[in-house]
Amino acid sequence: MRIDVLTLFPEMFTGILQSSIIKRALEKGVAEVYVHDYREYSSKKNKRVDDYSYGGGAGMIIEVQPIIDCLKAIPDYQSAKKIITLPAGRKYEQDVACEYSKFEHVIIICGHYEGIDYRILDYVDEAVSIGDYILTGGEIASLAMIDSIIRLLPEALGNKESSEQESFSDGLLEFPQYTRPEEYDGKRVPEVLLSGNHENIRKWRRFQSLKETYLKRPDLLKSAALTKEDEGFLIKIKAGEEL
Ligand code: ADE
Repeated sequence: MRIDVLTLFPEMFTGILQSSIIKRALEKGVAEVYVHDYREYSSKKNKRVDDYSYGGGAGMIIEVQPIIDCLKAIPDYQSAKKIITLPAGRKYEQDVACEYSKFEHVIIICGHYEGIDYRILDYVDEAVSIGDYILTGGEIASLAMIDSIIRLLPEALGNKESSEQESFSDGLLEFPQYTRPEEYDGKRVPEVLLSGNHENIRKWRRFQSLKETYLKRPDLLKSAALTKEDEGFLIKIKAGEEL
C-alpha cells in the first residue's frame, strides 16, 4: 500500500513513522509513506500559502492552488482514495480504518487551523474527523489514521492473531490480560488463567470480554455477532453474577 500525506509540517511525521511497529512495517515494505510539504508548490515568491478571507474576517485561509499542485505531482493520484482531515468530516472509527486498509493508494491532505478554501472539497473523496474535538491541524489526525491503517495490513504485526483478537475486531472490548508475577501488591491473577484448562480459559475470556463491553461500551453490543453462549453469559452479567 502507498500513503501520501500533504502537510505544512512534515517534521511532525518523522518521530512516529520511525518508531516501533510502524517503523518495522515500513522497513518490511508492508507500506510506503511519502510526506509532502505543499508549501514547496506555492506560486508566490515568498512561499506563502494563505491569504485573506473573501467577505472579511480576522483569520487567514489556506489557498487551494499549492495543495492541488502538490496533489497532481503524486503518481497516479487520480486513482487514489483522497481524504482531507477536518473536524466536520465523517467520523473515523475502526470500520473506516478497515475500509481504507483495502485501498492500494491513499492520499491524506492535512487540514489546518486557519481554514482551507472550501473548494478543496471538490478534489477529495471525503473529509474525515477523528473525533469531536478540535486539533490545531490535521497532522495528528492523519498520523492516527496512518497508524491504524498500517497495523491492519497483512504482515504488519508480528503475531497474526493480535489484530484479530483485540478490541473492536469482533465488535467487543478485549478481555483483561495479565503477566508475571502471579501476585503483585496483594493482587492475584485470576486463578482460572493459571489452571491450564483451555476451555475454562476460553469461556472466562469471552465472559470478561462481554462484561467489559456491557459495562463500558454497551452501544457496541447492538452490532456485535453474539452466539447462544454469549446470550447466556449476558443474562448472568446483567444479573450481576459471575461465571
Ligand atoms: N482537524 C482539527 N480537528 C480535527 C479532528 N478532530 N479530526 C480531523 N481533523 C481535524
